[in-house]
Amino acid sequence: MRIDVFSAKPHDLVFMQHATQGTALDMQFHEARLNPDTARLAQGAQAICAFVNDDLGGATISVLSDLGIKLIALRSAGFNHVDLRAAQAAGIAVARVPAYSPHSVAEHTVALILALNRKTHRAFNRVREGNFALDGLMGFDMHGKVAGIVGTGLIGTVLARILSGFGCELLAYDPYPSAECEALGVHYVEMDELLGRADIITLQCPLTPDTHHLIDDAAIARLKPGVMLINTSRGAVVDTRAVIRGLKSGQIGALGLDVYEEEADLFFEDMSQSFIPDDVFARLLTFPNVLITGHQGFFTREALRAIAETTIANITEFQSSGAPLHPVKLPD
Ligand code: NAI
Repeated sequence: MRIDVFSAKPHDLVFMQHATQGTALDMQFHEARLNPDTARLAQGAQAICAFVNDDLGGATISVLSDLGIKLIALRSAGFNHVDLRAAQAAGIAVARVPAYSPHSVAEHTVALILALNRKTHRAFNRVREGNFALDGLMGFDMHGKVAGIVGTGLIGTVLARILSGFGCELLAYDPYPSAECEALGVHYVEMDELLGRADIITLQCPLTPDTHHLIDDAAIARLKPGVMLINTSRGAVVDTRAVIRGLKSGQIGALGLDVYEEEADLFFEDMSQSFIPDDVFARLLTFPNVLITGHQGFFTREALRAIAETTIANITEFQSSGAPLHPVKLPD
């Protein structure tokens, strides 16, 4: 069986080739991002493998269907970028990697919180320039602060465990509260209460119609002034323009992002020799209290190994039974 892997980076080749050893799978790697044009590269394949910023809208799926593709194997947990209806109508199964390493993203979330709090990103540059002044670097004790976690699934639960180790008071909002989190001391509250009480808010929910621009002007107006906001879920959970207004007014005191609404045009590419074409993103970079990483939350050795192994397990199960191990189904 031939599988065409899109948005393939050198690390994907290493981990995927390792996971394919001992199977008869023929993996073809394409650096190109998947879209209606590049989809034609999959001519002759039975399955394609895609990542978070690949375009899996109706137009791409129609091309994949014409090529006879039967399986879309996502190398991600999130599937908000897939037109599931179009896939179902075309008879194409969609698989994902539901849990590869919640630790990778939860730990990166904590890295952003601590760096923003203690201004490590600024201290690093200062010390290298021989500037040992401490002005502007003052942080706060994590101990005793109120952390509000939006979405206590796999990642949110690991995050709750880490933050409870710091001695934070933990609030959460999730339509499906978790007994494991409650046992950790997490108090489930309504979103409004979380917004108004938390010193640190972290977003760990999926991007759905309900969570699209969950953090907008109205939500920002309810925040505790000077709050730290972290988004390591999906960019569009936050209305970026509203957040810039919140940073300018001081309502948001620090912002950590691993994801960005329009990241598909920027992230995972080296643009250091050209320029950033996105003025909203460029504006974000001008704030000293904003720290952005380019969707690297998942990027640990353990997570990449697990992603490759689960992806191959999805494909081999599809080959033998006609259904992947971890199918993505249309919501009822
Ligand atoms: P999960 O499915 O285990 O947990 C998601 C939780 O969000 C569930 O408990 C669900 O009930 C909750 N939720 C759903 N709608 C909500 C709403 N309206 N408000 C609050 N909570 C809501 O997913 P997991 O593995 O914890 O991942 C969460 C998200 O993190 C993924 O959907 C993905 O978008 C993002 N992610 C980011 C990565 C990165 O590299 N930055 C890597 C992996 C995932």
